[in-house]
Amino acid sequence: MKDNQRILITSHSDRTVTWTLTRPDGRANVIDRLFLNEMSNALEELERDKLVTGLIIRSAHPKIFLAGADLSSLSHLPSDEMEVLLGDGQDIFNRLARLDLTTVCCINGPCLGGGYELALACDRRILSANPNAVVGLPETSLGILPGWGGCYRLPRLIGLFRALPTLAGGRPVRPRKAAKLGMVDEIAPAEVLEQAGREALNTGKASPRLHWDNLPVIRQLISIAGRRKVLSQTKGHYPAPLAAIEVMEYGLGAGCEKALAREREVFLRLSRSEISANLMHFFFLRERAKKVPAPVGGGDYPEISRVHVIGAGKMGGGIAQWVATRGIPVILSDLSPDALGFGLKTVHSLLDQAGKRGILSPLQARQAMDRITPVCEPVPIRKGDLVIEAIVERIGAKRTLFADLDTRSPGGTVFATNTSALSIDCMSVAMKDRSRLGGLHFFNPVHRMELVEVIEAEQTDPAVVRSLLHFVNRIGKRAVLCKDSPGFLVNRILLPYLVESAILWEEGNEVLAIDRSMTHFGMPMGPLRLLDEIGLDVAGHVATELKFRLPHLATPPPMLAGMSEQGMLGRKSGSGFYIYSSKKSGRLQPNPTLGKLGKRAANRAKETEMSERMNLVMLNEAARTLEEGVVATPEDVDFGMIAGTGWAPFRGGPLRHADSVGIRPLVERMEKLADTYDERFEPCKYLLELARKDKTFYPQSSESTHTLSSKQMERIQS
Ligand code: NAI
Repeated sequence: MKDNQRILITSHSDRTVTWTLTRPDGRANVIDRLFLNEMSNALEELERDKLVTGLIIRSAHPKIFLAGADLSSLSHLPSDEMEVLLGDGQDIFNRLARLDLTTVCCINGPCLGGGYELALACDRRILSANPNAVVGLPETSLGILPGWGGCYRLPRLIGLFRALPTLAGGRPVRPRKAAKLGMVDEIAPAEVLEQAGREALNTGKASPRLHWDNLPVIRQLISIAGRRKVLSQTKGHYPAPLAAIEVMEYGLGAGCEKALAREREVFLRLSRSEISANLMHFFFLRERAKKVPAPVGGGDYPEISRVHVIGAGKMGGGIAQWVATRGIPVILSDLSPDALGFGLKTVHSLLDQAGKRGILSPLQARQAMDRITPVCEPVPIRKGDLVIEAIVERIGAKRTLFADLDTRSPGGTVFATNTSALSIDCMSVAMKDRSRLGGLHFFNPVHRMELVEVIEAEQTDPAVVRSLLHFVNRIGKRAVLCKDSPGFLVNRILLPYLVESAILWEEGNEVLAIDRSMTHFGMPMGPLRLLDEIGLDVAGHVATELKFRLPHLATPPPMLAGMSEQGMLGRKSGSGFYIYSSKKSGRLQPNPTLGKLGKRAANRAKETEMSERMNLVMLNEAARTLEEGVVATPEDVDFGMIAGTGWAPFRGGPLRHADSVGIRPLVERMEKLADTYDERFEPCKYLLELARKDKTFYPQSSESTHTLSSKQMERIQS
């Protein structure tokens, strides 16, 4: 036991034992084969020693309790070995549940997946009040289900009615809600968590709970309603939540052994599916985005200690709120008190929402607000400051601003623009030191979108890029590193898709049919609806800029400009392709006045033809981003598109999806479409080359997410 590397055991004089979950390298606690072996041995000791009355399980990691199964080893396991691991885990957790002593988990940080299944096998769960201490079973978001007893135990603990959305939705649950649902027994301030755990040892073994919703007929009705809801939300693209509902319902009527056997069987079936492989792929893409290889060389910049956000509009307010919440002081500036007032109102309302949802405590929200200093006059800039520009999207205004900032900033100051599509090298022409300007392209709404594109312009010092990448990581966002090129990565691929949807509308297709073709494909919303969300004016502006710089793209239909002129700007103006009312409920209706904008053709296309056209223009631009070196790898493209636009995660991203369909048939189809329409469908060189050599974007799909390309290796800092 002395050499344990995952579970350290301490025996106390009061006949209790503590297991401390740990890793010698200080990394996040996860459940791997070694963990299970050590747990099995530790249980054997407790099963032998009849004098021990209580067990506390705690974590040595300052922030994480137990993050779940070690997915990097799990995803490579052959099916037979996976089956053994599942069975062993179930046996071990059963032994924990059956111990003849009181067992308490003191959960100081995230306790997810297998981690929460372990907690479920204990008598009591005490959770830290820290909002980062989340619990839950997110397996369905990976296309699988909890296979170590989670489907069996959760409904027994909290009842099927509450367990169903928690398990099928797969979202981590924050402390207040977890206590309300009964997922934990108590919340305690972090400082007294273990004391609360010790006190809970006196409450004895947990007795089975009775829940009205677990009774036979009621649970059937709940399952039917749950299945219906999941189907309407996922359009049938995600089988795991449905399987989880079925397994939970079955488990409530079966004994432990049979229920766990069904859990194993369904887990194995799901884990072998392409959907699960794609969702795992996205999981690893997210992990990879935490450690984007940074360019080497260049100067030296100090750690960023303060942020200036210039422009307190929609984006500036959102960025200021996010950065201040991460503990960094912010100076928020705008031209007038009114404009500044708008920004502060945005910050206030975001903090308020975060408070209401239990993401921030009232104290944390107040401290974040206090970190923001609003100003209408230029303030001194000092070494270690990062200036993020979020003013209007006009090259002249941005150029003048950076020229001024440059003259009044000392060395060691980093500048970043949040531009959507303007050239950063054009923006820096009037600066003396152009090397300190890079791009930080946040997405709207900032608090929801985890992606930030970090832009490296021709003139940008690699040290500035490193500093920006580090900053993105520090504020808890995930980065994709892009070259300064039109629309960078996401807008470059997204805008041609949106323009194609508008062209389809102009050709005579119905708004609902166009949108349905893409939601059926797996997009979170249709392209015309997305245009309404972005704003017809903003999207039109970016599309025109892109067409100007990339002539092969389709010309945005004049009707888009017409809509803006008529004040149909989308959701913000109450009408666009759809009509918006203040009432939240009900289906959105297409805007009946659209027809008055001009005569449309009457060429209706089939749903599959529409989605094919929209997907192929995206694929062409996605391949071009690799051809032109805008990003380094297919992983960057797939991660950027899923994280930045919600591109069907269950398909693994546009390039992984193209690989699975086959590049050659896609290229042949594009060539046919180019004959029928125009050069926008002409496959780019990169695609032609892949088709000619019968290759795919990913060398070997299953391995590529875990390894770095040679190009990336070259860029890694020594
Ligand atoms: P906005 O129009 O809501 O806000 C711009 C703010 O900048 C206004 O409050 C204006 O008074 C202020 N401003 C203008 N010139 C200024 C100056 N010289 N000094 C200080 N303040 C100045 O614009 P929004 O939507 O926040 O966009 C800002 C930037 O972010 C743009 O470059 C835009 O392309 C980019 N962006 C916008 C996204 C969106 O969805 N709105 C998404 C991602 C990037």
